[in-house]
Amino acid sequence: MVFDTLLPRPVSVTPSPGSCPWPSTVDVRAASLPPEGYRLTISPSGVVLEVADAAGECYGRETLRQLAGPSAFRVAGFAPSPLPCGVVEDHPRFGWRGCLLDVARHFRTKAEVLRFVDLLAAHKLNVLNLHLTDDQGWRFEVPAFPRLTSVGGWRPSSMAGSGGAQDGRPHGGFYTSDDLREIVAYAASRAITVVPEIDIPGHARAALAAYPALGTSPSYEVWTDWGISTSLLSPVESTLDIFRQVFDHLLDIFPSPVIALGGDETPGATDEHRAFVRRLAEHLVARGRTPMGWDEVLDIDGLPPMVIGAWRDEDAGLRAAAWGHDVVLCPEQHVYLDHRQSPHPDEPIPVGWVHTLEDVYAYEPALSGARLRGVQAQVWSEHLDDVRRVDYMAFPRLSAFAEVAWSAGPRDYAEFLPRLRDHHLPRLDALGVEYRPLDGPHPWQTRPGVPGRPR
Ligand code: ACM
Repeated sequence: MVFDTLLPRPVSVTPSPGSCPWPSTVDVRAASLPPEGYRLTISPSGVVLEVADAAGECYGRETLRQLAGPSAFRVAGFAPSPLPCGVVEDHPRFGWRGCLLDVARHFRTKAEVLRFVDLLAAHKLNVLNLHLTDDQGWRFEVPAFPRLTSVGGWRPSSMAGSGGAQDGRPHGGFYTSDDLREIVAYAASRAITVVPEIDIPGHARAALAAYPALGTSPSYEVWTDWGISTSLLSPVESTLDIFRQVFDHLLDIFPSPVIALGGDETPGATDEHRAFVRRLAEHLVARGRTPMGWDEVLDIDGLPPMVIGAWRDEDAGLRAAAWGHDVVLCPEQHVYLDHRQSPHPDEPIPVGWVHTLEDVYAYEPALSGARLRGVQAQVWSEHLDDVRRVDYMAFPRLSAFAEVAWSAGPRDYAEFLPRLRDHHLPRLDALGVEYRPLDGPHPWQTRPGVPGRPR
C-alpha cells in the first residue's frame, strides 16, 4: 500500500479503491484544521487539498510528491506514478521542527544553503537555525562595520580534523544582505523560518579580529583551531552599542519572531558578561522579538522570557521550562548530527558519541507541555568542509529526526527502516543527496588519516 511509504508518517491514512493520474491542478481549499495541517483527498476524479494555512498547503503538496514516486524529486524528467486513492489527514506534533546549520566554521555558499532549505522542506522541517558567526568566521555582512566580513570572514588555515595539524588552506566567505533576504524569502515560500544566530559573548573571535577594540587584547586573529576559545567580547558600553547596531541590522533582514544570541561556552565569563547578554536580550525584546539562547544563559539573573536551546542535556530544558522560558530540545546526547554515525574506524573524522540512525529515530523528548516548542537537530561544521560532508552527516539521520519532530510515537525502527531504505533513500538519490549508506561510508566518503575525537 503506497501510503506506507510516506515520511514523516502522517497522523491518519484511509485508503480507498482506485487510482488517479497526476493532476494538472490541485484543488486547494481553506479548512478548519490544526495549525500546519492538511487533508489530502485523492479520488479517481482528482485531488482536493484542504489546508489550515500556507504551511499546510506546502506539506500536502510534499505528501503528494512522495506519492508520485522518486522521480517527482528530480528537477526535470518527472514521470509520475498514478496516485493511490484515499484520504491523508495530517498535522505536526511540534510547531518547531528545526535544524541548525553551522555556516561559520565552514562557509556554505548561498546556493548550498538554498539547496539545504529544499531538503528541509522535503522533510516537513520548518526552522533553519542559521549559525552565522563564530570564532572561526563571521558570515553576516553589516554595512556599518565592514571589517566584520572583510577581515572576520576569512582565515588563513584550518585545523585538519582534531589532531592539531593545520591544513594551510585559506577558507572563508560571507553573505550579503541581499543574499540573506533571498534565503529568507526562499525559505518562507517553503514554510521555513530562518532563525539567525549571532553568538555572543563567546564564540566571537572573528568579530574581535575585525575590531580588536571589542575585546581586551591589542589584536586577535580569526581562529584557525576548533574547540572553545577563551576570547570573549569585552562587556562594556561601547561593545554593547556596536552589537545593538549589529542585531538591529539582523532584525532588518530576518523577520523571524525568534532571534538567537548564543551565550554558550564562555570560560572565564564574569557578571559583567552575563549582564551584557541580558541587555542584548532586552534589546531584542524591546524590538518586539523573542531572544533565543543556549542553555548556559540560564545562569544569568533577570533574563526576559526567552527560548532556550537545551543542548547540554534535557534537564536544562526542564529547568528552563520551570523558570518560565520556552524550550527547544536539541540535546547533544541524541541529535547532534556532527557526531559519528557508528563505532567503525572508517567513519570519516569521527567525533563525539555514536549516534546511529536508529539512535536518532529512538529519540523521545523528556519534556512535554506548553513550554516545549519542539525539537532541533544540529549540524555543526568544524569537520564538514564541503557540502558532500554535510550530506553524509545529515542524511539519512535528519530523515529519521524529521519523523520524530512531525509524528507522535510509538515508533518502531523495524517499521521505519524498510520505509526509509526502499522508498525514501530513492527520493534522496533523485534529489542528489550523498547520504551515508546504511551499511557504512562509500570509500570516497572516508577520510583516512584525518584524526577525530571520539567520546
Ligand atoms: C553548542 O553546541 N555549543 C550549542
